[in-house]
Amino acid sequence: MDFQTLFFLMFLIPVVSCLDNGLALTPPMGWMQWERFRCNLDCKNDPENCISEKLIMDMANRMEKDGYKEAGYTYISLDDCWMSMERDSQGILQPDKDRFPHGIKYLADYVHSKGLKLGIYLDMGLKTCKGYPGSKFYIQRDVLSLNEWGIDMLKMDCCGGGSDMVTGYEVMGFFLNQTGRHIAFSCSYPACIGNLFSDYAGVAQLCNSWRNAIDITDSWDRVYKVVQFYSLNFYNFSGFAGPGHWNDPDELIVGDYSLSDGQERSQFGMWAMFASPLFMSVDLRDIKTSSRNLLLNKRVIAINQDPLGVQAQIVWQHPWTDQGMVSGWVKPLMKKGSYAIAILNGSSYGMPAPINITLEDFGLTSEGGYNLTETFEGRFLGPYKLKEPILLKIHAHDTFLATVVPL
Ligand code: GLA
Repeated sequence: MDFQTLFFLMFLIPVVSCLDNGLALTPPMGWMQWERFRCNLDCKNDPENCISEKLIMDMANRMEKDGYKEAGYTYISLDDCWMSMERDSQGILQPDKDRFPHGIKYLADYVHSKGLKLGIYLDMGLKTCKGYPGSKFYIQRDVLSLNEWGIDMLKMDCCGGGSDMVTGYEVMGFFLNQTGRHIAFSCSYPACIGNLFSDYAGVAQLCNSWRNAIDITDSWDRVYKVVQFYSLNFYNFSGFAGPGHWNDPDELIVGDYSLSDGQERSQFGMWAMFASPLFMSVDLRDIKTSSRNLLLNKRVIAINQDPLGVQAQIVWQHPWTDQGMVSGWVKPLMKKGSYAIAILNGSSYGMPAPINITLEDFGLTSEGGYNLTETFEGRFLGPYKLKEPILLKIHAHDTFLATVVPL
């Protein structure tokens, strides 16, 4: 354990273990570099897509002009690979000077001028996942830089984080509080600890959001694995989501290369049900209209951003042939007695799954029944009694999403 950590353990931890920034009262929304642009350093041959100030400024422009900002996407976040390989002689982190020639403060000012907020990435170990300087031994100094630059969100990764990693996050939380600046704190240590991680009460006190599942990649297989992890709900982690603190199943891949329209609906719809942070990864300069419309769908976003801030729970699941499961999910909403419900057909069988279900099967109890409105298209499906069958057909990997309001 380094001296700094020891010092804070001895004197300060008892008063610092709570993040105190008043942020993320609903799940944060934005765009993040990682899933689509990764660690592309090749600005010479690929100037449009390498990790650079230009990429971030391009995305900020699109977020402002194409309706994303208006829909609620406010953070724009750098991920790994923005740094220079070395700190300067005083130990201060530097951005790569060729790719970020004007520095991070300039970029933050630009992003702020668009009415958006800038997120950045650090790592709690000696090095980031891609080998750039980590923040171990430099926590206080790095927070100073974040503050000077005008950063609004920090994703703190944990590659190479040792046994003192969680303490490092606590120290980081202390210094973030000290800045008086509102810096949302996204923590990765539950994901680094893996399925054994159990201290959701602790992480919910310390972080505005936390990764707990595997990294998303551009594949339905990954999206569905994350959904399955969320259905297992180890240590009842869904119960620890709420205003100011959220489970984070990783970025949206809507608009990227691998998902069908139905799969895109499923990821976006389920992430809304999970009260998940909604961070897009797609190249906003080049996105299909259908994906853009989905990402801007006000009704789905309203489910995600519902101020009650309760995460959906799985309430039933059954097989559709031997090709996978169909699952039902419920998320209570702020408006008294209302809920969002989702039915996800995770089966790969060619014929659509026939659904014959009642609202009672979702655990709903209002004897007078409910008005049912499908969410993606906004179609009113009518009043339903508690035990009245709802008949649907859901195609492979697609999701039926609806809200119900008691009559
Ligand atoms: C880890 C994280 C990813 C991304 C990469 C960057 O894998 O889980 O989200 O930040 O590191 O190297």
